[in-house]
Amino acid sequence: MSSEKTNQRREALKEVFAQAQVCVRCQELAATRKKVVFGAGNADAELMFVGEAPGASEDEQGLPFVGRAGKLLETLLKEIGLERKDVFIANVLKCRPPGNRDPLPVEIENCREYLYRQVELIQPRVICSLGNFSTKLLREDPTGITRLHGKPEELTLGRRTVRLYPIFHPAAALYTPRMLETLREDFSRLPDLLALAELPQPSDELEDPRALGFVRSHAEGSEGSALKPPRAAGEEVDQSVPSRPIAGQDEISALDSSQLLADQLDLF
Ligand code: URA
Repeated sequence: MSSEKTNQRREALKEVFAQAQVCVRCQELAATRKKVVFGAGNADAELMFVGEAPGASEDEQGLPFVGRAGKLLETLLKEIGLERKDVFIANVLKCRPPGNRDPLPVEIENCREYLYRQVELIQPRVICSLGNFSTKLLREDPTGITRLHGKPEELTLGRRTVRLYPIFHPAAALYTPRMLETLREDFSRLPDLLALAELPQPSDELEDPRALGFVRSHAEGSEGSALKPPRAAGEEVDQSVPSRPIAGQDEISALDSSQLLADQLDLF
């Protein structure tokens, strides 16, 4: 990958970050959140984790998985020779649902494009969906994690084909020793999964980073299911999503003050 392309991807990711910071698609979440939890880690990670939604600590700090479930995730990573800085950690929702209630379908739908853009721009080889919400969202199928955990499958999300690897959510494993054992076993297969050959990719071209459009299809399905056609040149942009120009100075300083950038996102 040329460094020009890497830079392009990083710049685009920063724009998606800036868009997410001011997102008001979900009125209730926008009104009640303290911080938008965009995700954190290595912007070129080969391994990405997708959890459910920020909790209270994440909302305070603006970072994903900083509570007890996060500590367990870090332990499990360490056991396979990885650290947080080697991977990218994101969630289905970027904002905390009040009282830690379950994400609503409309919120999942509203937030989905951010996650898909993250996947397109970070370009992981393997995505671990943590628990039911992210597994169901990414597979677009209601099959639950108990049946699917530990079974990798190929999946195309936007312009990225990945190996999806559903595993139990660490929060669930915190209180159930047998589940923790299973989670640990599933985790132990990650290095082999990461070592597999690169999957063929649908396209190398980057979309205009200011457009949050995406297309998704099952890699292994007989027919792809386009959820939303790619935006044609000149086509009107959905105004319900603030399509923002490159972040202004104020936003840049807000970004600079966030650990996400220099420390967490490895962008600069
Ligand atoms: N649980 C999640 O799913 N995500 C977090 O960021 C924290 C806990």
